[in-house]
Amino acid sequence: MSGQRVQPADDAHVAEAARVLRAGGLVAFPTETVYGLGADASNDDAVARIFAAKARPKFNPLIVHVLDIDAAAAHVRIDDRARTLASRFWPGPLSLVLPRREDSALSLLVSAGLDTVAIRAPRGDVAQALIAATDRPIAAPSANRSGEVSPTTAEHVADSLGDAVDIILDGGPCPVGVESTVLDLSGEVPVLLRPGGLAVEELETVVGPLRRAGEGEVARSPGMLARHYAPSRPLRLDARAVRADEALLAFGVEVPAGAAEALNLSPSGDTTEAAANLFAMLRTLDRPEFAAIAVMPIPEHGLGLAINDRLRRAAGARS
Ligand code: TXA
Ligand code: MG
Repeated sequence: MSGQRVQPADDAHVAEAARVLRAGGLVAFPTETVYGLGADASNDDAVARIFAAKARPKFNPLIVHVLDIDAAAAHVRIDDRARTLASRFWPGPLSLVLPRREDSALSLLVSAGLDTVAIRAPRGDVAQALIAATDRPIAAPSANRSGEVSPTTAEHVADSLGDAVDIILDGGPCPVGVESTVLDLSGEVPVLLRPGGLAVEELETVVGPLRRAGEGEVARSPGMLARHYAPSRPLRLDARAVRADEALLAFGVEVPAGAAEALNLSPSGDTTEAAANLFAMLRTLDRPEFAAIAVMPIPEHGLGLAINDRLRRAAGARS
């Protein structure tokens, strides 16, 4: 068991975690979205350890975490659109894909061969304190083994990555609960690569109507592979009724009866609350005694876009 790696995210352990990062180690830490598996983004060996720990395909680039737009400007070219978006939504759950600066100190492994970098300033005291104390950009994918659902508690991280991580900072459950929204600003037209914790409607108030990446553009965000976010039980989406051998992931007030076990993402029908509960509830229901996890329909607005995206990927992985 790796329980001893889990430490409270107090000042002393944040300082220790920063030393671990500066020495090339791996630190799992909470952000407002999900727990990240962090390494010094300017250290090739440390970044390589992330891929090894996650058993992650090498072509999948990582998000770089910084304190603010000034720190980002050392690594990527910030245009007016990026400046406007960052000043409005950072710190927060928005990752911007921007052209990499030739003089950037980032490990080339971070962008996995692309000439762009996905970068964001996370919200949350622990993440910000850790970045400040480390005084380096921190590369951090979600702190789970590749293909598993993202962790929203320190316990999920310990279960998934165990001994592969040097220290896990426990800052409690992540308030947003789904990964950041990824917006590609490297071309003329902004492209939504991944719906996430910042609602698309909010982004559109600033950049206007957004184009969603089509299937043919998956290569622009190689992490968006079908086999991602998958629990081990089959998922049955848009369920309006449930069988006795199924677990039910419900949404809203009107819940069909008869499930072997049921959890409700949001009894009040709030997509933001549902996002915060999504991964933890999927994990709780992902047990061999259930034939499947039936998931009720989630509305396609607010964080419902991100929830449905993750659910479709999880369901598609085995069909
Ligand atoms: O909320 C989050 O974004 C969490 C926390 C820890 O910050 N991180 C996270 O990272 O979800 P990860 O590695 O699991 O997902 C990163 C996504 C992937 O879909 C990846 O393909 C995409 O961002 N990405 C990263 N760099 C990219 C780039 N240069 N161009 C296009 N897509 C990129
Ligand atoms: Mg991930």
